[in-house]
Amino acid sequence: MKSRTKIDALLRSTETGIEVTVKGWVRTKRGNKNVNFIALNDGSTINSLQIVADPTIIAEDVLKQVTTGASIAASGKLVESQGAGQTVEIHASTIEVLGAADPEKYPLQPKKHSFEFLREIAHLRPRTNTFGAVFRIRHAMAYAVHHFFNEKGFYYWHTPVITGSDAEGAGEMFRVSALDPRNPPLTEDGEIDYKQDFFEKETNLTVSGQLEGELGAMALSDIYTFGPTFRAENSNTTRHLAEFWMIEPEMAFYDLSDTMDLAEEFLKYLIQYALDHCADDLAFLEKRLIDEEKNKPAAERSEMSLTNKLRFVLENDFVRLTYSEAIQILRNSKPNKKKKFQFPIEGWGTDLQSEHERYLVEKHFKKPVILTDYPTEIKAFYMRQNDDGKTVAAMDILFPGIGEIVGGSQREERLEKLTGLMDTMGVPQDELDWYLDTRRYGSAPHSGFGLGFERMILFVTGMTNIRDVIPFPRTPGSASF
Ligand code: 4AD
Ligand code: MG
Repeated sequence: MKSRTKIDALLRSTETGIEVTVKGWVRTKRGNKNVNFIALNDGSTINSLQIVADPTIIAEDVLKQVTTGASIAASGKLVESQGAGQTVEIHASTIEVLGAADPEKYPLQPKKHSFEFLREIAHLRPRTNTFGAVFRIRHAMAYAVHHFFNEKGFYYWHTPVITGSDAEGAGEMFRVSALDPRNPPLTEDGEIDYKQDFFEKETNLTVSGQLEGELGAMALSDIYTFGPTFRAENSNTTRHLAEFWMIEPEMAFYDLSDTMDLAEEFLKYLIQYALDHCADDLAFLEKRLIDEEKNKPAAERSEMSLTNKLRFVLENDFVRLTYSEAIQILRNSKPNKKKKFQFPIEGWGTDLQSEHERYLVEKHFKKPVILTDYPTEIKAFYMRQNDDGKTVAAMDILFPGIGEIVGGSQREERLEKLTGLMDTMGVPQDELDWYLDTRRYGSAPHSGFGLGFERMILFVTGMTNIRDVIPFPRTPGSASF
């Protein structure tokens, strides 16, 4: 095969006059009897490369097959472009059609398609400008996650996808079983006999790698996980997926305040990385948002452009306050007094809904907020119990437009306190004996948090539906492809 140069590299190069070969998919072809202009995109950049095809050089039957969506290889001289909007173009000496795309049937037209429509054509969705940009940024963010932690001496710790425990105690899990669902073996009591299943016990897809992550931190000091996470919660919202990716660092000898510092530094690092490395894609998404906002009433338009919003988060300290302080603010807030919240704030102890989180971030503080010290009852069993006897050392980071983006805590490292709360909450100790062992042999103060990767991508790209920042979304009633 002929060596091929990626379009991103060509558009950056200053060298012209050389012979090159490019391969990609045709975005558009326009022109006339005398000359054709082909916009070619190969996914390496949002920008397409212009290929000038002279019908006296390129055969007519070849040009006929150069239609939107077709895959082609084009060779020719790289020259400075006369046209506006591009620095270089190729004057084609040969064009080979690798895969034609019947123009009568090709589902993508050179016009705007709705995101709902595009979700149904998984193979073409990433060929659009918007999704190309989103998925390139998604890649950059994943790379930046590893870079950040590697530089800090954290180890990438692989936790299992199939587990026998419910880390969050929420019970919203997908069962993993190799039994025949039509004819499962039964115990004497008529229950399904999982002893005869593949793992000889009940197993599920993981809802979090944290508990296994803690075992890593109790030996390697600082670890992080980054993997798929599954939740069978029936939340059909723009911020929930049944399969999402989570990053969970776990640090020995960190208290809650150290953990908040790390989380804030981490989020800012990711944003800075996107600004530094994804400028073209961000510029496209920013323009897309501005165009979209033109259709909205003035009052609903956002005050900041996408990149200004990203810079704003970088330049400001996150506000830190306790759950109790937040409840005070919410109780006295206008929407609460005017009964505008769907879930009114009754008093101390109620769980915060996303409408409350977004009020704090978007209306009251107008900055990212870290809420700490939540009531024990509304949080998980493993969080460290505060001396007041009613709160735990938890922290949630709330972002504008998103709500909760990070959830974390200092962990309860004292065995008696931990088992006491497990009993109160009805968390079975026998199943988690391996976890409790960390508190029996060389227990140490430690903390960690979880960042929802897709929620972070939502924030960075300015997309509004979490289904549109993952290539193959899984949501209630939907697991195509
Ligand atoms: O707050 P969560 O449930 O925390 C944990 O799972 C802890 N074990 C983390 C830890 O301390 N190591 O989830 C963490 C984050 C949320 O803040 C949110 O960003 C994301 O994961 N998340 C989801 N993202 C998409 N779809 C869902 N259904 C999500 N559920 C949680
Ligand atoms: Mg949470």
